[in-house]
Amino acid sequence: MKFSRILVALSASVNAQYSGDIVQYWVDQSGLLSNNTLIGGLQSPPSGWFEAIVQASIYVAALESKNESLAFQQLAVNFGNISKAAQDVLAKINITETDDRYWRAAAIGRRAVIRVTNARQDDKLNNLVNYVYHSAYPSVYQRTPGSAFVAPDTPQARYLHTFGGIGDGTRFRVPPPPSVNSSTYESFLDCVKAQGERNSTVRTAYNIETAYFWRESSPTAWNRFAHNVIGDKYAKDVLSSAEFYAQLNYAHANAAVAGWDSKAFYNTWRPVTAIRRTDIWLPSKRNNGGKDEIHIIHSTNATGVGLGVMSRRYTSIKQAVKNNGDSRIFGGIHFQFSSDVDSIVADPVGRATLEAFDKNWDKF
Ligand SMILES: *[C@@H]1O[C@H](CO)[C@@H](O)[C@H](O)[C@H]1NC(C)=O
Ligand SMILES: *[C@@H]1O[C@H](CO)[C@@H](O)[C@H](O)[C@H]1NC(C)=O
Ligand SMILES: *[C@@H]1O[C@H](CO)[C@@H](O)[C@H](O)[C@H]1NC(C)=O
Ligand SMILES: *[C@@H]1O[C@H](CO)[C@@H](O)[C@H](O)[C@H]1NC(C)=O
Ligand SMILES: *[C@@H]1O[C@H](CO)[C@@H](O)[C@H](O)[C@H]1NC(C)=O
Ligand SMILES: *[C@@H]1O[C@H](CO)[C@@H](O)[C@H](O)[C@H]1NC(C)=O
Ligand SMILES: *[C@@H]1O[C@H](CO)[C@@H](O)[C@H](O)[C@H]1NC(C)=O
Repeated sequence: MKFSRILVALSASVNAQYSGDIVQYWVDQSGLLSNNTLIGGLQSPPSGWFEAIVQASIYVAALESKNESLAFQQLAVNFGNISKAAQDVLAKINITETDDRYWRAAAIGRRAVIRVTNARQDDKLNNLVNYVYHSAYPSVYQRTPGSAFVAPDTPQARYLHTFGGIGDGTRFRVPPPPSVNSSTYESFLDCVKAQGERNSTVRTAYNIETAYFWRESSPTAWNRFAHNVIGDKYAKDVLSSAEFYAQLNYAHANAAVAGWDSKAFYNTWRPVTAIRRTDIWLPSKRNNGGKDEIHIIHSTNATGVGLGVMSRRYTSIKQAVKNNGDSRIFGGIHFQFSSDVDSIVADPVGRATLEAFDKNWDKF
């Protein structure tokens, strides 16, 4: 055999399958799609919803193809012929369009997508509820100055049904925030104001970086975090990978539904509003002349502020969760008490999702 033929034979066997974790590949593609839409990136509830639908479809296809070869399974969970990148992945799988198996695998994937998207038809995400602003009393939500959005983020998200049969989002409603008249409230305000002030003397370079590090939509960030936790452990086990990411993304979507229930139920103002209105509500009646002194980080473009690509090392998930919550105070967006209740919603939602999954994975 000629040397060149040996090379061709070798590369055929090397390329017989996609060498990475094909499910992770599609998690990333979904993240890119929800991150780069016309409105500059989907908010957390729709991006969680979208990725849960994609991962549910992948899990259905992985179950259907679980007795087949690895290459076949990779093809069955492969949804796209939509981009050059996706075609490059297809090209690595050693089953071509002239092979019957190609079309059998493609049919499994298509059936899976149709099954899941049909189940989510009319699930109310397209119910564009008309958010009504309430009077500007202390603690009542008001439009965020400088924001491109005229209403709060995805007000209809609270009405969506959860993934995996964990019941209504209201089950996970958090206790009320502290009273605006309490001294505790004033210290929460002082904290976010000190961190968020344009010329803050307490916001460190680390805090600024933290604000940008966690700024993108949470499901995207936490999927990437999960990749780093599991690595390529499931690269040759499509079904386990599909199950892991379906559970994770059901939990993301469910946490957004439950979180948005609490958010809408209490309908509380953001620090930016509270700081401007200290004259009307603070017990000490400090008056800042109605000036907006807080520096809100709207952008996710860390390159634009000279930070470029950032990486972080965490020694526990708990530490990362805390850092994620704190990032919102460093960015001037949230009060610490609202970041702290995030895990009061997300912990039980995650547990309920995981507990129900074996029985209810197909309650899409
Ligand atoms: C890839 O497919 C070709 C054509 O079917 C076959 O000759 C070759 O043995 C396959 N390689 C592997 C590693 O399956
Ligand atoms: C999402 O967009 C932000 C800002 O453009 C970027 O930093 C981030 O890497 C993107 N994430 C994905 C998964 O595309
Ligand atoms: C896979 O194989 C098992 C054992 O032979 C069988 O019970 C099961 O129905 C098969 N599943 C699929 C989806 O083909
Ligand atoms: C995928 O796209 C390529 C190029 O656009 C096309 O030649 C091919 O037939 C497509 N395959 C399928 C299964 O749609
Ligand atoms: C806070 O105090 C004001 C009077 O200073 C009162 O009108 C208001 O109802 C109080 N708000 C709460 C939530 O207790
Ligand atoms: C904050 O710093 C900027 C320069 O970065 C300066 O123009 C501005 O006057 C400062 N504002 C206050 C309130 O000190
Ligand atoms: C991010 O900022 C850099 C530098 O200002 C700019 O070149 C780039 O186009 C921005 N990217 C996005 C996605 O806005």
